Order: sequence, then C-alpha cells, then structure tokens
Amino acid sequence: MTTIRAAITSVGKYLPEDRLTNADLERMVDTNDDWIVSRTGIRERRVLREPGKATAFMAAEAAKLCLAKRGIGADEVDVILVATVTPDHVFPATACLVQALIGATNAWGYDISAACSGFLFALSTGAQFIVSGKHQKVLVIGADKMSAIVDYTDRNTCIIFGDGAGAVLLEPDDTGTGLIDSREYTDGVGTLESLWMKAGGSMHPATLETVAAGEHFIYQDGKTVFKRAVVGMADVAAEVMQRNGLTGDDVAWLVPHQANLRIISATADRMGVGMDKVMLNIERYGNTTAATIPLCLVDYEPVLRRGDNLILAAFGGGFTWGAAYVKWAYDGETV
Ligand code: UT7
Repeated sequence: MTTIRAAITSVGKYLPEDRLTNADLERMVDTNDDWIVSRTGIRERRVLREPGKATAFMAAEAAKLCLAKRGIGADEVDVILVATVTPDHVFPATACLVQALIGATNAWGYDISAACSGFLFALSTGAQFIVSGKHQKVLVIGADKMSAIVDYTDRNTCIIFGDGAGAVLLEPDDTGTGLIDSREYTDGVGTLESLWMKAGGSMHPATLETVAAGEHFIYQDGKTVFKRAVVGMADVAAEVMQRNGLTGDDVAWLVPHQANLRIISATADRMGVGMDKVMLNIERYGNTTAATIPLCLVDYEPVLRRGDNLILAAFGGGFTWGAAYVKWAYDGETV
C-alpha cells in the first residue's frame, strides 16, 4: 500500500525592512553589543513599524510568495493554519484575515497558539489533513509581531525578539518524502511564572491598571526558560532521531527554533550534528517566535536537496516543545 505523507512543496517569507540593531538597543536600555552577541548570538532584528499593519499582513505576504513560487492560485488552498501569539485581534483568528488578504476563496482556517513551538505544532496538525485525504493543499504559517508585546524598557526581553513571518505549503506525496515523524509535548505546570503575558485575556481583561502595571508585555524568567529549553529541545530531537534510527551523520540539517545560539549549540551537540549542519539566522532576525523555523527553511531553500533529512526542533512558552523529521521534497528554490 502506498504511504501518503505531507510534503513541503514551497516556502515563502516576509520580513519588515526596519532593522533594530544592538547599537540601537544600547541607546534604549542598559545593555551592550558584546553582552547580547555572546549571550544570545543576535546582532539585529526586524520591526514592523508601518501603521495599520500587523501579523496578518506579514503572514499574507509570506503566503503569497509561497504560492507564487509554486505557481498556484490562492483559490486552490484548502486550509490556512496560522501559528502566532500576536494575533491582530483576540478574535477573529488571524487565519481569517490572511484568507481575505490573499483571496483564498475556497479555504477555511484557524490559529494555533503554541508560542515558539507554534509552527511545529501547526505543521503536525496540517499534515493530518493531508494524510487523512481530506485536503490537498494546506498553508502552514508561523508569524509574529513580537514588537507589539515587547517592553522596550526591559532589557531581559527587548534584546531577544523580532518580527517576521514564514509560510510553507503542504501537499500529498507518495514518493517517500515529507513529514515522516514528529513528537510534541506540553507542560503547563509553573508556566505562568516563567513565560507569559499576564493581562489581555479573560483572567485579567485590559483595564487602566493592567496597562499602567505593564501587564500587556511579555514576561520571561530567562534563566528558567533557558534551562528547560536546553533539555527539552535536545531531548525531543534525540528522541525523534532515535525512533527513526537516525545518527548525526544521517541528518543533513538541524532546523532549530532561533531563541538563543547557546540553546541551539547544546541541541546540536546532543544530536551529534556539527554546527555546519545547523540552520541559523538568529544573528539577523532574533527570535521571531512562531516564524523562526519557516524563516530558516526559506533562507536555506537554495541549498536543500531532495531526500535531505531535516530535524526541526523547538521549545517555547506553554511550556511547549517538539521535534519533527522531514525528508525534503525538492532541489533548490521553487520557481
Ligand atoms: O523562545 C522562547 C523561549 N525563550 C528562550 O528560549 C529564552 C531563554 N533564555 C535566554 O535565552 C537567556 O536566559 C537570556 C538571553 C534571556 C538571558 O541570558 P542569561 O545568560 O540567562 O543571563 P541572566 O539573565 O542570567 O543574566 C546574567 C547577567 C545578570 O547580571 P548579574 O546578576 O550577573 O550581575 C543580568 O542582570 O546579565 C545581566 N543582564 C544583562 N546585561 C546586559 C541581563 N540582561 C542583560 C542585557 N544586557 N540585555
């Protein structure tokens, strides 16, 4: 019997033009380029400053490019999944806004909230629609306008995050490529003290007091998250490799969530994968939350070859974490 898998058949990205460099941040908070580079690996991030534009805009631009490269119309898309923690509005879902912006007249869709693991969770979800035979073309998008929820007076968080969006198209494949396996985890214990946005939801709706107390910004206990991320990302990547009989030599690329270069190197170490086989763009974009992994896929697309074994891995708020084993479906750039 033929095995149908969900293959990534095209990718697209959007990055705002405005750059926020470490030198800019030195003028805003008590920090310095050396500290930021040595502790995180980040030199600059992108920030979407244009009024009237937010996550849906970036997601739609990434989606348009992804579809154009594959040469298919938006009306052929069946499902749009948007992973984000910075939706344009609490409701409607950002996916609905993207549907309208790209003119995907035959699609339905919804948002997935899993912070930095959002893209991986959405990929795994989207693949089910393909494998089940229900749908043929699923857009999976990771998009976040982190600048909307970052406190630019808090040096613990403002140095890390940036804005951006990445999109992939999933289609059925019976030739052995596509999403081979994935493993996802969630652990909500203690998460409210470590990584969250306190107000703005139904527990603490927006009031003058919540705004004055800065409760609509990200709060992160960096040390705790760092420790959990190092273990979580490395463990789950190793688990997926082990259950698929892969060694470091079999892996063409590690595609890690770009939160901190030190977390990425620890994961690569544990997998037995050299840094020359690790996709990196954290230096230029910082942590774009749900967008980091698809942005890596776009940036490295020209060097990817059909049959390459990719291990995608992420850790983030929730806590959420996971890894996916993807056998790449095509050579070089889609046109
Ligand atoms: O993507 C979602 C999940 N998020 C993550 O994976 C992020 C995980 N955490 C991290 O990446 C790191 O914890 C940070 C980059 C956030 C912080 O790095 P760290 O090495 O854990 O620094 P730290 O918080 O332990 O602080 C070390 C020192 C402290 O000074 P003292 O107490 O040693 O004197 C901080 O006050 O560095 C100081 N510090 C800074 N100095 C200059 C903290 N932030 C800064 C800063 N610039 N921006």
